[in-house]
Amino acid sequence: MYSIKVNKQKIIGVVEKEIFGSFVEHLGRSVYNGIYQPSHPESDEMGFRNDVIEAIKELNVSIIRYPGGNFVSGYDWKEGVGDKSKRKQLVDLAWCEIEPNLVGVDEFAYFSKKVNSEIMMAVNLGTGPIQDVSDLVQYCNLKDEGYWANYRIANGYNTPHNIKVWCLGNEMDGDWQICSKTAEDYAKIAKDAAKIIKWVSPNCKVVACGSCSPLSKTFPSWDKTVVHQIFDYIDYLSLHAYYTYPTKDHDVKEFFGSGKNFDNYIKTVKQLVLKEKKKRKSNKEIYLSVDEWNVWHTFDGSNKRVKDWTYGSPLLENHYDFADCLVFASLLITILNNCDYVKIGCLAQLVNVIAPILTDDEKGVLKQTTFYPFSILSNEFRGLKVLDCKDNYPMYNTKTYKKVNSVYKCVAYDEIKNEYKIALVNVSGNDANSRIVFDNDVKIVKCCEMADANLHDKNTFEEPNKVVLKEVEVFSNEGNSFNLKLKKYSFSVITFKKIRKEC
Ligand code: AHR
Repeated sequence: MYSIKVNKQKIIGVVEKEIFGSFVEHLGRSVYNGIYQPSHPESDEMGFRNDVIEAIKELNVSIIRYPGGNFVSGYDWKEGVGDKSKRKQLVDLAWCEIEPNLVGVDEFAYFSKKVNSEIMMAVNLGTGPIQDVSDLVQYCNLKDEGYWANYRIANGYNTPHNIKVWCLGNEMDGDWQICSKTAEDYAKIAKDAAKIIKWVSPNCKVVACGSCSPLSKTFPSWDKTVVHQIFDYIDYLSLHAYYTYPTKDHDVKEFFGSGKNFDNYIKTVKQLVLKEKKKRKSNKEIYLSVDEWNVWHTFDGSNKRVKDWTYGSPLLENHYDFADCLVFASLLITILNNCDYVKIGCLAQLVNVIAPILTDDEKGVLKQTTFYPFSILSNEFRGLKVLDCKDNYPMYNTKTYKKVNSVYKCVAYDEIKNEYKIALVNVSGNDANSRIVFDNDVKIVKCCEMADANLHDKNTFEEPNKVVLKEVEVFSNEGNSFNLKLKKYSFSVITFKKIRKEC
């Protein structure tokens, strides 16, 4: 019998709502033929699909990073505003696609309001002149001061878009990035952009590019240099992390170690930021923005373009199975357990492109396996206090990641409702009989589970509910300890209500 000892006194941090962010890039069928499809019968008067919007709302996405990604490093935002009939079709060198400029900053602001989300705007620090950054912040955030704010008003957007979080470029350490840079060169331009953004809009927060991956050749030296050079100018440092089968034989046991590797990555970046803070004897915090994370496979050929120089065609469309879902849940749990420093998280991406939501022109919207862990954690864990609780679940050895967890857990406390919530992912092929011990009496009020599926089961338009989260029956005894069977290969979220003892 394994055990979890719940201790309300040991608080890791509070789950900020921005941890449940996502990402929409001009890429494949993410924007065009994804969220935006004017010819579709479900689309609203602006061309955005209402059925897609309803599914996004279920995910309760707090902030959406936009418009890229690699795309942003060649993007001219000015071509995407104003009279639609005069907008140019331009080539996008990041993905070798056509950018028709039918959706730009204004249309995206409209869309993000419809899904109750804020925007996290990325600026072009690749081909873009720094003046364009200044003009963009003025366009989005000033009321009516100067040409750019008035141009927005003339375009029909009277109220400023009021974008509060800005990304200083994207993956500028990666050689594939349009105009990638050395850490020193990046730090210089990022500092100028940060200063300009805050001069125009002083309450904005800015995110500097950290490394694009823990596997990057320049990790962690890139991050150290950036933090050292521009510590005083930035609010967050970004981390990007995508996981796939790390071995050629697609051994799931190796893949299931992803969460542990992700945890090490986050903690390494946190330590380097804290080291710089200590060296400077500074009180300032630089938090972490995990602004691209997900499971991403390329072995299925989904990274091959159907045709160059087109738009709205499938690219990077992963069809996630139950094994992917378990890894995905372990990654999100890892973010939650690091919420002392991780304040922003963006699931990359939101629709069609490595996404929890797939669309079809005729068949509508499909919720992939990964939709469910995001949805329940986003709806139930925001604002809660994550607790540091001991457990004795076994670790196992992998070739790729050394010792990794067989069970990932996150224990959180809801002060308002007096409830504990425990999310658990059992990635082992054995049931884990567990005893959960609390520091006061509780009763189980709800238990949701994804289990009893084959690891390679997927949801399809023909069978959309093959792998879904289900509420399961629980017996409602009271006490300070509970025995439960964590099924092999399962994801569960259990809610316990604290009971006040009558005197
Ligand atoms: O999300 C897809 C791509 O992954 C993004 O454009 C880029 O930033 C990352 O490499």
